[in-house]
Amino acid sequence: MSDICRGRVAVVTGAGRGVGRGHALELARQGACVVVNDLGGSVDGTGADVGPAKGVVDEILALGGEAVANTDDVADWEGARRLVETAIGAFGRLDVVVNNAGILRDRMLFNMTEAEWDAVIRVHLKGTFAPTRWAASYWRDEHKAGRPVDARVISTSSTSGLFANPGQSNYGAAKSGIATFSIIAAKELARYGVTVNAIAPGARTRMTEHLGGRPAPPPGEWDDRAPENVAPLVAWLAGPASRDVTGQVFLVGGGRIAVARGWERGPGVDHGARWEPAALDDVVPALVAEAGPGGRPEEQPQARSAEAGPGGRPEEQPQARSAEAGPGGRPERMTGA
Ligand SMILES: NC(=O)c1ccc[n+]([C@@H]2O[C@H](COP(=O)([O-])OP(=O)(O)OC[C@H]3O[C@@H](n4cnc5c(N)ncnc54)[C@H](O)[C@@H]3O)[C@@H](O)[C@H]2O)c1
Repeated sequence: MSDICRGRVAVVTGAGRGVGRGHALELARQGACVVVNDLGGSVDGTGADVGPAKGVVDEILALGGEAVANTDDVADWEGARRLVETAIGAFGRLDVVVNNAGILRDRMLFNMTEAEWDAVIRVHLKGTFAPTRWAASYWRDEHKAGRPVDARVISTSSTSGLFANPGQSNYGAAKSGIATFSIIAAKELARYGVTVNAIAPGARTRMTEHLGGRPAPPPGEWDDRAPENVAPLVAWLAGPASRDVTGQVFLVGGGRIAVARGWERGPGVDHGARWEPAALDDVVPALVAEAGPGGRPEEQPQARSAEAGPGGRPEEQPQARSAEAGPGGRPERMTGA
């Protein structure tokens, strides 16, 4: 067995179940010491239970790995600080933060309550920012003290945000926000030896089981939608070999890994003076027509099954190697901003 994370210390949020549990177990298998964070609530974020985090710690210890539990709410400012301090207190350092914790409160926006909006934005967006913020200030201090930093942040986006899934305006806004947050953080933290990437996973978990999809196959058969399939990319991103990969968003599920490409400047026009609004009658429709159908939801079939897969089918993910995706995401091409 390989041990590509030997000697590293990782925090995984929402690691008591689903995709995050897979990350924690794989990181431990690869030699990392793991802080297993999980509040232990229900899918909609209500409630709390120490059982899920403790259960995964027990699994890691049974494998011969090292782990401790933390049950703080990742979106709580002081809770996020305690989470980072738990790693440093238990294992003496912190190298990797995997922001994975998440909840769902799906609703069409005309019916969405303030509480449904706030809860989802809070757990995903602030719950990604807060642990990253405390880890980043720790790594900056380490760097300034002359100690070498080779650290990682890996956060969790979703095709729901990247491809705009109706019925999830709260969740999708948070998830596309996490993708952009990651790209900005990659630019800010590059000088301190920290890479920042995001993943958009696809797997069968309690969050997605209601969507139908393929049931689990009989034991022993390849399970394309097993949550553990997302973990190898995260373990690789957590390890030293990924040090030149930053500011990227990956689609991952089953055996598929693809680089997501983001916004780009499309067709445009410069009038050289302030427009008369009525003159745009022809201009804007012509620009939209020239830009092509990319932006229209009905022409993006993968947008309908937000959590059902990573953009899913291999033929929809032609760029399987990040070198093929070009330099758009590398910080040295993005500085100057
Ligand atoms: N399953 C998929 O196909 C899929 C697709 C796209 C994105 N995602 C994202 O992947 C991540 C993991 O989802 P999952 O499918 O494994 O769901 P899950 O519900 O099985 O696991 C999420 C875990 O996060 C924990 N959690 C929730 N709020 C928390 C908080 N405030 N603090 C600490 N822990 C908290 C929950 O207790 C739970 O154990 C989420 O961010 C989700 O949005 C999943």
